[in-house]
Amino acid sequence: MKVAVKIDEIRQQVREWKQQGLTVGLVPTMGYLHEGHGSLIKKSVELCDKTVVSVFLNPTQFGPNEDLDSYPRDFESDKELCQSLGADLVFHPSVEEMYGEDASTYVEIVSEMPKQLCGKTRPIHFRGVCTVVSKLFNIVNPDKAFFGEKDAQQLAIIRKMVRDMSYGIEIVGCPIVREADGLAKSSRNTYLNEEERKASLCLSRAVKLGREMVEKGEESAEKVTSEMKNLINKEPLARIDYVQAVDGVTMLPVDTLKKGVLVAMAVYIGNTRLIDNFSVKE
Ligand code: PAF
Repeated sequence: MKVAVKIDEIRQQVREWKQQGLTVGLVPTMGYLHEGHGSLIKKSVELCDKTVVSVFLNPTQFGPNEDLDSYPRDFESDKELCQSLGADLVFHPSVEEMYGEDASTYVEIVSEMPKQLCGKTRPIHFRGVCTVVSKLFNIVNPDKAFFGEKDAQQLAIIRKMVRDMSYGIEIVGCPIVREADGLAKSSRNTYLNEEERKASLCLSRAVKLGREMVEKGEESAEKVTSEMKNLINKEPLARIDYVQAVDGVTMLPVDTLKKGVLVAMAVYIGNTRLIDNFSVKE
């Protein structure tokens, strides 16, 4: 497995692969890889001839008071995981390599979509995500790109960007990977102390409760999200940012829970903001 830090190296390698008729999968990450990322890499290795994993902590998707500086990093262990899962190339550029000194072009969806859910408290987040993902698409030129369903709004936004900008790239969403006790895997789980780790289970419990209500036939978004909020509010360390039902494509709020609706939440456990969700299947 190779590690490349320069854009030109990636372009050169991918060009060679494409000349040989090989397909290329891209797994974009911000590092500190866990089994959730592992599942994306495995899927890419399964579906594509060659897999590129990008490890880039992207400053443009963090607001001024967010956790860019404290975000966990461990590139040695990231490399080991990528290698053990059969990735072919890790792209680990510096901020200067990606943005230069004077980058001033952004890719931004200007509808209501990025203003919903996480966009309410993170107003510049999805502009940063779309900009860096579109740069990675231009650099790597993959056939397929792999994203986790835990970041459901991000996934919907990237699908929309790909449609709007006519990228010839297939976006593959991969299911949430959970710890044995239910907590969705996230690099940010490392911020939780012992007490907070226990408290964090209120998110996956709320997902389970909501899903069970839907499976029993409840169609009212209001009833289901209220019960989920009640469950979370019983946890003293938890503070709800949002628990909301939205259309799975547009991210706009809905009243009725039917197939394709996303029920998503963001909850602070102490100072750590965690997200989780489920989709209505039937
Ligand atoms: O999901 C993430 O880790 C990031 O938002 C992504 C897609 C790698 C862009 O920086």
